[in-house]
Amino acid sequence: FDVAKQLISGKLENVNKKAEQLQPGEGAVVTLNGKRAGAYLDDQGKLHLVDTTCTHMGCEVEWNNGDRSWDCPCHGSRFNYEGEVMEGPAKQPLTKLSGE
Ligand code: FES
Repeated sequence: FDVAKQLISGKLENVNKKAEQLQPGEGAVVTLNGKRAGAYLDDQGKLHLVDTTCTHMGCEVEWNNGDRSWDCPCHGSRFNYEGEVMEGPAKQPLTKLSGE
């Protein structure tokens, strides 16, 4: 799984070390074109990118590797790796970013 190559082809900039070391099934916060982005590498080695801004009130979600979800520290909203809502109060999915 050549994560670095996928990140470069996706025009990810200032990628942090954690992202380069992503293993299938892991996620991390990276920088995409100067903006914070959530990256998740699936079991097939495909990269999924979402905007980490919570759609409830704008806090920054964090990756939960145990449940493979993006969790918001402010009011507990949870999103899957594609940004779909798993738990409210958020009602709208996270914005998907194109990185492939
Ligand atoms: Fe994320 Fe409220 S801002 S749950």
